[in-house]
Amino acid sequence: MTYNILLLPGDGIGPEVLEETRRVLGWYSANRNLAFETTSDLVGGISFETHGAPATDAMMKKALAADAVLFGAVGGPKWDKLPFHQKPEQGLLRLRGDLGLFANLRPALCFDALKDASSLRPEIVAGLDILIVRELTGGVYFGKPKEITELPDGQKRAVDTQVYTTGEIERIARVAFELARLRGKRVASAEKSNVMVTGVLWREVVTRVHDKEFPDVALSHILADNCAMQLVRNPKQFDVIVTDNLFGDVLSDEAAQLTGSIGMLPSASLGAKDANGRQPSLYEPIHGSAPDIAGKGLANPIAAILSFAMCLRYSFGRVDDATLLEKAVERVLADGYRTGDIMQAGMTKVGTTAMTDAILKALDKLSG
Ligand code: IPM
Ligand code: MG
Repeated sequence: MTYNILLLPGDGIGPEVLEETRRVLGWYSANRNLAFETTSDLVGGISFETHGAPATDAMMKKALAADAVLFGAVGGPKWDKLPFHQKPEQGLLRLRGDLGLFANLRPALCFDALKDASSLRPEIVAGLDILIVRELTGGVYFGKPKEITELPDGQKRAVDTQVYTTGEIERIARVAFELARLRGKRVASAEKSNVMVTGVLWREVVTRVHDKEFPDVALSHILADNCAMQLVRNPKQFDVIVTDNLFGDVLSDEAAQLTGSIGMLPSASLGAKDANGRQPSLYEPIHGSAPDIAGKGLANPIAAILSFAMCLRYSFGRVDDATLLEKAVERVLADGYRTGDIMQAGMTKVGTTAMTDAILKALDKLSG
């Protein structure tokens, strides 16, 4: 079985971190009885420069045909002034929308070696392991109308639309409950049912799915603002948090920062399985394009590499191989290797390539 992988490096540090991921793919095909066929294409600002659009039909066709997409990052100051529909971010949104990637898995894990790097006290974050399940193809990101119109008095009026259907809520709730069964068996569902009718429906549907299909999982409901506060007060109370697209965007950044490891966290975006069991998927480091350090060999490749570990786990069902890669990353951190973003006194400062070298060596050791 040869897996067909599309690499979309994108902008900023995206190309550097995906190049390192490609080396890890090489290690797996040489050592672990896995075969990959990779192709690359452009997305984001670089796609706009070359083709005049942040995502082209030709790229989308490759993405739809791939077994998995590995994504770098998009955006940068260079493209800040572009009209809305040409902005680099629209490339990512088109991928999410057209591939139907409705389930976004964002683990917020505090690596033991980095517990002192958090802006919270180490005892609050040590051992933290939260999974945010963010709905990714609905809500205010995609709701229509989405427009700016002119009013007769010369003012402008902007509208974004928050919209959810029963089916959209059911399928994301199921993903959250199923994943919770493999972890701490607790789901907190975050919405604003006190002010939003989408929140009212969200709470109703999540409760129904829970009661009918997942009574063995503990479900709690929390207002999204309180959830944001509880995340900094006592983050270890959470196991899985399921929430809508916009709240998920905000809460996942907050949760990532808690861990002190924001440059280290991966994510998976998954679609619905088709009749043959094929599931569209895209894996992406949650850090952005970091234009300030792009092209300097300084970027931390770990988030991109751990995104490939998620790909092994979720797209290829290779749980042992995924765990091996996660262990290798833990090992290099324990051995003191640090890129600039996570540098601490007394540790060994390395660049992008040297960090990957260390991970490849750790893979050799752990597997041999
Ligand atoms: C994210 C990002 C994106 C989002 C941007 C780049 C469109 O912030 O993946 O969290 O808002 O979803
Ligand atoms: Mg975000």
